[in-house]
Amino acid sequence: MKNGRANFGTKLGIILASAGSAVGLGNIWRFPYETGNYGGAAFIFIYLGCVLLLGLPIMIAEFVIGRKSRANTAGAYQILAPGTHWRWVGRMGVLAGFLILSFYSVVAGWTLEYVIEALGNGFAGKTPADYVQSFQTFSSNPWKPIIWLVLFLLGTHFIIVRGVEKGIEKSSKVMMPMLFVLIIVLVICSVSLPGASKGIEFLLKPDFSKVNGDVFLGAMGQAFFSLSLGMGCLCTYASYFSKDVNLTRTAFSVGIIDTFIAILAGFIIFPAAFSVGIQPDAGPSLIFITLPNVFQQAFSGAPWLAYIFSVLFYLLLALAALTSTISMHEVVTAYLHEEFKLSRRKAAWMVTSGCIILGVLCSLSLGVGKHITLFGLGLFDLLDFFTAKILLPLGGMLISVFVGWYLDKQIVWNQITNKGTLKVHTYKIIIFILKFIAPIAIGLVFLNELKLF
Ligand code: PHE
Repeated sequence: MKNGRANFGTKLGIILASAGSAVGLGNIWRFPYETGNYGGAAFIFIYLGCVLLLGLPIMIAEFVIGRKSRANTAGAYQILAPGTHWRWVGRMGVLAGFLILSFYSVVAGWTLEYVIEALGNGFAGKTPADYVQSFQTFSSNPWKPIIWLVLFLLGTHFIIVRGVEKGIEKSSKVMMPMLFVLIIVLVICSVSLPGASKGIEFLLKPDFSKVNGDVFLGAMGQAFFSLSLGMGCLCTYASYFSKDVNLTRTAFSVGIIDTFIAILAGFIIFPAAFSVGIQPDAGPSLIFITLPNVFQQAFSGAPWLAYIFSVLFYLLLALAALTSTISMHEVVTAYLHEEFKLSRRKAAWMVTSGCIILGVLCSLSLGVGKHITLFGLGLFDLLDFFTAKILLPLGGMLISVFVGWYLDKQIVWNQITNKGTLKVHTYKIIIFILKFIAPIAIGLVFLNELKLF
């Protein structure tokens, strides 16, 4: 215990908890549908560039801020830059966390419906058109998705209330490896479906002629979203890291695990989608309409295997989403608890109830409230756009400026090298990226979107 705050127990626990935050619906639900929207391989290529050039250095920067300050993300700036406006970066992160948690829980709720559907063998004997139809009927139903959303948020709530080590770390240790094994099995099934090669080509053959500024914004937003960056989430986790954790190595491990799982998810979804003739740009419904096909077709000779795999997959997907919702909830709860001196329980209840209200509105915006739009987007899509494509990259840009320019060089060096005890060969590159590359690159993507050149 440090300053009376909890710490993560082991190093493996630290990597798994951070990876648990990073790996979630962002990899398995959002990555494939954004890849589909933006045309495939070229998007993936740019995405990988964003992870390497922006994601990893900014993750290290968040780790530096969190572990040095040992506070929630807004409090961190108060400690490291007292009396300055930097605390707004933290507050913006808290807002982003709250907003993402609200719409994310809607999709997390869908995964629960699919667990129950799989348990009742509801996918058996249906055609691809049936899967599309049943997803549409379900997601636009005014009640069902809302009940699941509330249950999901309550599940997150109770883990948060039990505290960091018992709740977050233990659950990640079991779930992450299981999810990984299952994903590998599904990739093998999917690529061996008839006609899968077109999907593989879609993932591997880039067509750069279709790349425009939007693709860059999409890839950058997806990198921040998937790595849980730009809102102080990993910063809050790092505030629970012990002194001897190697920040650079942890960032690399988390980045590699997260990217690997996203790419594998692509190799599950697209071969399957092309195999059964579902358009790759089907949007948020993509994994919910393609995956049931994978299970049914790949195991058509052994229906019991189809049954087991579909139950397991949706269950693990729900759990992966849970380790991510926990991390978002923790950002907002730690903020309210430490900054407003509320009890953890009270803070957590405020977050949970706020998210239920906003989440319900998001869910309705996909069904009965479809006609209510702002800038042409319903609430669900609007929150997704505003957080992933604006708040997170903006947060990331400010975090890189903070660590690259504002924070005392000695502090940064001490954190990254653990006071000189670690040899970090990439130190100079990391600082150079934080100072120049990241702020300029993010700034250019924004300016381009505002059509300023
Ligand atoms: N990275 C998570 C995912 O991929 C989502 C997330 C975003 C979690 C931002 C925390 C903060 O599902």
